[in-house]
Amino acid sequence: MIPAAGSGQRMGAGYNKLFLELEGKPILIHTLDVFEQDPNCVGMIIAVKEVERLQIVEMLERFSITKVQALVEGGSERQYSVVSCISAYDSEGIVLVHDAARPFIHRQTINELVKSANANGAAVAGVKSKDTMKLVANGTIKETVDREKLWVIQTPQAFRYEILKDAAMKAQLDGFFGTDESMLVERLGLPVKMVESTYDNVKMTTQEDLVFGEILLRRRR
Ligand code: CTP
Ligand code: MG
Repeated sequence: MIPAAGSGQRMGAGYNKLFLELEGKPILIHTLDVFEQDPNCVGMIIAVKEVERLQIVEMLERFSITKVQALVEGGSERQYSVVSCISAYDSEGIVLVHDAARPFIHRQTINELVKSANANGAAVAGVKSKDTMKLVANGTIKETVDREKLWVIQTPQAFRYEILKDAAMKAQLDGFFGTDESMLVERLGLPVKMVESTYDNVKMTTQEDLVFGEILLRRRR
Protein backbone atom coordinates (compact mmCIF):
# COMPACT_ATOMS: atom_id res chain seq x y z
CA MET A 1 0.00 0.00 0.00
CA ILE A 2 1.59 3.17 -1.21
CA PRO A 3 0.31 6.58 -0.17
CA ALA A 4 1.13 8.96 -3.02
CA ALA A 5 -1.56 11.59 -2.58
CA GLY A 6 0.46 14.30 -0.85
CA SER A 7 1.19 17.72 -2.26
CA GLY A 8 4.89 18.03 -1.48
CA GLN A 9 4.66 21.41 0.26
CA ARG A 10 8.14 21.24 1.76
CA MET A 11 9.74 20.38 -1.56
CA GLY A 12 8.33 23.58 -2.97
CA ALA A 13 8.14 22.33 -6.56
CA GLY A 14 4.64 23.74 -6.98
CA TYR A 15 3.31 20.26 -7.75
CA ASN A 16 3.42 16.75 -6.26
CA LYS A 17 7.12 16.05 -5.54
CA LEU A 18 6.61 12.42 -6.59
CA PHE A 19 6.56 13.59 -10.22
CA LEU A 20 10.07 15.07 -9.90
CA GLU A 21 12.59 13.01 -11.78
CA LEU A 22 15.82 11.42 -10.61
CA GLU A 23 17.96 10.23 -13.51
CA GLY A 24 15.04 10.65 -15.88
CA LYS A 25 12.52 8.68 -13.86
CA PRO A 26 9.82 10.06 -11.53
CA ILE A 27 10.39 9.44 -7.81
CA LEU A 28 7.08 7.58 -7.70
CA ILE A 29 8.28 5.13 -10.34
CA HIS A 30 11.61 4.55 -8.59
CA THR A 31 9.63 3.49 -5.51
CA LEU A 32 7.11 1.32 -7.36
CA ASP A 33 9.94 -0.36 -9.28
CA VAL A 34 11.38 -1.84 -6.09
CA PHE A 35 8.13 -3.71 -5.48
CA GLU A 36 7.60 -4.45 -9.16
CA GLN A 37 10.93 -6.31 -9.13
CA ASP A 38 10.26 -8.08 -5.82
CA PRO A 39 8.91 -11.59 -6.46
CA ASN A 40 7.31 -11.63 -2.99
CA CYS A 41 5.12 -8.65 -3.83
CA VAL A 42 1.86 -9.82 -5.38
CA GLY A 43 0.27 -6.44 -5.89
CA MET A 44 0.22 -2.75 -5.07
CA ILE A 45 -2.58 -0.40 -4.07
CA ILE A 46 -1.73 3.26 -4.51
CA ALA A 47 -3.55 6.23 -3.01
CA VAL A 48 -3.60 9.13 -5.45
CA LYS A 49 -5.22 12.53 -5.81
CA GLU A 50 -8.15 12.36 -8.21
CA VAL A 51 -6.71 15.17 -10.35
CA GLU A 52 -3.46 13.25 -10.76
CA ARG A 53 -4.96 9.88 -11.54
CA LEU A 54 -4.63 10.10 -15.33
CA GLN A 55 -1.07 11.33 -15.19
CA ILE A 56 -0.17 8.43 -12.88
CA VAL A 57 -1.94 5.84 -15.02
CA GLU A 58 0.10 7.07 -18.00
CA MET A 59 3.28 6.89 -15.97
CA LEU A 60 2.60 3.28 -14.94
CA GLU A 61 2.11 2.41 -18.56
CA ARG A 62 5.21 4.23 -19.77
CA PHE A 63 7.47 2.62 -17.19
CA SER A 64 5.87 -0.85 -17.39
CA ILE A 65 4.64 -1.06 -13.81
CA THR A 66 2.24 -3.99 -13.95
CA LYS A 67 1.47 -4.97 -10.37
CA VAL A 68 -0.83 -2.08 -9.48
CA GLN A 69 -4.20 -3.55 -8.54
CA ALA A 70 -5.99 -0.35 -7.63
CA LEU A 71 -5.54 3.40 -7.61
CA VAL A 72 -7.71 4.62 -4.75
CA GLU A 73 -8.62 8.16 -3.83
CA GLY A 74 -6.26 9.66 -1.25
CA GLY A 75 -7.38 11.96 1.55
CA SER A 76 -6.37 15.30 3.02
CA GLU A 77 -4.08 13.56 5.53
CA ARG A 78 -1.69 10.69 4.98
CA GLN A 79 -3.68 8.50 7.41
CA TYR A 80 -6.82 8.94 5.30
CA SER A 81 -4.90 7.94 2.22
CA VAL A 82 -3.69 4.77 3.93
CA VAL A 83 -7.20 3.99 5.19
CA SER A 84 -8.38 4.30 1.59
CA CYS A 85 -5.83 1.67 0.56
CA ILE A 86 -6.84 -0.60 3.44
CA SER A 87 -10.52 -0.37 2.47
CA ALA A 88 -9.70 -1.43 -1.07
CA TYR A 89 -8.07 -4.67 0.08
CA ASP A 90 -10.08 -7.74 1.00
CA SER A 91 -7.59 -10.55 1.24
CA GLU A 92 -5.19 -11.65 3.96
CA GLY A 93 -1.47 -12.08 4.35
CA ILE A 94 1.22 -9.52 5.02
CA VAL A 95 0.64 -5.95 4.00
CA LEU A 96 3.34 -3.30 3.81
CA VAL A 97 2.63 0.42 3.91
CA HIS A 98 5.41 2.37 2.20
CA ASP A 99 5.76 6.08 1.44
CA ALA A 100 5.91 6.73 -2.29
CA ALA A 101 8.54 9.33 -1.38
CA ARG A 102 11.11 6.70 -0.20
CA PRO A 103 12.58 5.33 -3.41
CA PHE A 104 15.78 3.86 -1.95
CA ILE A 105 14.37 1.10 0.21
CA HIS A 106 16.44 -2.11 0.03
CA ARG A 107 14.88 -5.44 -0.86
CA GLN A 108 16.63 -7.01 2.12
CA THR A 109 14.87 -4.67 4.56
CA ILE A 110 11.55 -5.55 2.95
CA ASN A 111 12.28 -9.26 3.35
CA GLU A 112 13.15 -8.85 7.01
CA LEU A 113 10.00 -6.83 7.64
CA VAL A 114 7.83 -9.49 6.04
CA LYS A 115 9.50 -12.23 8.05
CA SER A 116 9.06 -10.31 11.30
CA ALA A 117 5.43 -9.33 10.60
CA ASN A 118 4.67 -12.95 9.83
CA ALA A 119 6.12 -14.06 13.14
CA ASN A 120 5.05 -11.14 15.34
CA GLY A 121 2.13 -9.41 13.66
CA ALA A 122 3.72 -6.02 13.11
CA ALA A 123 7.18 -4.68 12.28
CA VAL A 124 8.52 -1.31 11.19
CA ALA A 125 11.73 -0.14 9.56
CA GLY A 126 13.99 2.36 11.28
CA VAL A 127 17.53 3.31 12.16
CA LYS A 128 19.26 4.17 15.41
CA SER A 129 19.79 7.85 15.95
CA LYS A 130 23.31 8.93 14.91
CA ASP A 131 23.20 12.12 16.92
CA THR A 132 23.08 12.80 20.61
CA MET A 133 19.45 13.30 21.50
CA LYS A 134 18.13 15.59 24.22
CA LEU A 135 14.70 16.23 25.60
CA VAL A 136 14.04 19.97 25.55
CA ALA A 137 11.23 22.00 27.08
CA ASN A 138 10.91 25.77 26.77
CA GLY A 139 14.33 25.99 25.16
CA THR A 140 16.07 24.26 28.07
CA ILE A 141 17.49 20.74 28.14
CA LYS A 142 15.59 18.45 30.46
CA GLU A 143 17.66 15.35 29.90
CA THR A 144 19.95 13.53 27.50
CA VAL A 145 18.11 10.52 26.21
CA ASP A 146 19.90 7.18 25.81
CA ARG A 147 20.72 7.09 22.12
CA GLU A 148 20.65 3.29 22.02
CA LYS A 149 16.95 3.40 22.82
CA LEU A 150 16.00 6.01 20.25
CA TRP A 151 15.09 4.99 16.75
CA VAL A 152 14.23 7.12 13.77
CA ILE A 153 11.19 5.52 12.18
CA GLN A 154 10.82 5.00 8.45
CA THR A 155 8.58 3.01 6.17
CA PRO A 156 7.88 0.25 5.14
CA GLN A 157 5.73 -0.75 8.06
CA ALA A 158 4.54 -4.35 7.77
CA PHE A 159 1.49 -5.98 9.32
CA ARG A 160 -0.66 -9.04 9.24
CA TYR A 161 -3.58 -7.56 7.38
CA GLU A 162 -6.22 -8.12 10.11
CA ILE A 163 -4.07 -6.25 12.62
CA LEU A 164 -3.59 -3.24 10.36
CA LYS A 165 -7.24 -3.20 9.41
CA ASP A 166 -8.50 -3.43 13.01
CA ALA A 167 -6.05 -0.75 14.17
CA ALA A 168 -6.99 1.64 11.36
CA MET A 169 -10.73 1.16 11.78
CA LYS A 170 -10.44 1.68 15.55
CA ALA A 171 -8.43 4.87 15.02
CA GLN A 172 -11.01 6.23 12.60
CA LEU A 173 -13.84 5.42 15.04
CA ASP A 174 -12.01 7.14 17.91
CA GLY A 175 -10.97 10.12 15.80
CA PHE A 176 -7.37 9.26 16.63
CA PHE A 177 -4.60 10.62 14.46
CA GLY A 178 -1.26 8.90 14.12
CA THR A 179 1.75 10.00 12.15
CA ASP A 180 2.46 6.42 11.17
CA GLU A 181 0.61 3.08 11.09
CA SER A 182 2.62 1.69 13.98
CA MET A 183 1.03 4.23 16.35
CA LEU A 184 -2.39 2.88 15.49
CA VAL A 185 -1.29 -0.64 16.40
CA GLU A 186 0.66 0.44 19.50
CA ARG A 187 -2.46 2.01 21.00
CA LEU A 188 -4.18 -1.37 20.89
CA GLY A 189 -1.42 -2.66 23.15
CA LEU A 190 -0.02 -4.97 20.48
CA PRO A 191 3.74 -5.43 20.06
CA VAL A 192 5.47 -3.82 17.08
CA LYS A 193 8.96 -5.09 16.25
CA MET A 194 11.80 -2.88 15.02
CA VAL A 195 13.70 -3.98 11.95
CA GLU A 196 17.00 -2.19 11.48
CA SER A 197 16.96 -0.48 8.11
CA THR A 198 19.59 1.65 6.37
CA TYR A 199 20.40 5.35 6.54
CA ASP A 200 19.91 5.71 2.80
CA ASN A 201 16.18 4.95 3.04
CA VAL A 202 15.54 8.70 3.08
CA LYS A 203 12.24 10.35 2.32
CA MET A 204 12.45 12.88 -0.48
CA THR A 205 11.11 15.80 1.50
CA THR A 206 13.11 18.96 0.79
CA GLN A 207 15.38 20.11 -2.06
CA GLU A 208 18.56 18.82 -0.35
CA ASP A 209 17.14 15.31 -0.38
CA LEU A 210 17.09 15.39 -4.18
CA VAL A 211 20.82 16.10 -4.27
CA PHE A 212 21.43 13.17 -1.93
CA GLY A 213 19.09 11.04 -4.05
CA GLU A 214 21.01 11.76 -7.26
CA ILE A 215 24.28 10.84 -5.55
CA LEU A 216 22.83 7.60 -4.17
CA LEU A 217 21.56 6.55 -7.58
CA ARG A 218 24.91 7.29 -9.22
CA ARG A 219 26.73 5.29 -6.56
CA ARG A 220 24.36 2.33 -6.90
CA ARG A 221 24.87 2.30 -10.65
N1 CTP B 1 0.62 11.35 1.41
C1 CTP B 1 -0.65 10.93 1.02
N2 CTP B 1 -1.76 11.66 1.35
C2 CTP B 1 -1.63 12.80 2.05
C3 CTP B 1 -0.35 13.25 2.48
C4 CTP B 1 0.76 12.49 2.13
O1 CTP B 1 -0.77 9.89 0.37
N3 CTP B 1 -2.73 13.50 2.35
C5 CTP B 1 1.82 10.57 1.00
C6 CTP B 1 2.85 11.38 0.20
O2 CTP B 1 2.50 11.39 -1.17
C7 CTP B 1 4.14 10.66 0.51
C8 CTP B 1 3.90 10.04 1.90
O3 CTP B 1 2.52 10.14 2.16
O4 CTP B 1 4.41 9.63 -0.40
C9 CTP B 1 4.72 10.75 2.97
O5 CTP B 1 4.28 12.08 3.10
P1 CTP B 1 5.18 13.38 2.97
O6 CTP B 1 6.61 13.01 2.75
O7 CTP B 1 4.83 14.29 4.07
O8 CTP B 1 4.69 13.97 1.54
P2 CTP B 1 3.80 15.26 1.29
O9 CTP B 1 2.70 15.31 2.29
O10 CTP B 1 3.45 15.24 -0.14
O11 CTP B 1 4.84 16.45 1.53
P3 CTP B 1 4.64 17.73 2.49
O12 CTP B 1 4.32 17.19 3.87
O13 CTP B 1 5.95 18.44 2.41
O14 CTP B 1 3.51 18.52 1.90
MG1 MG C 1 3.11 15.51 4.41
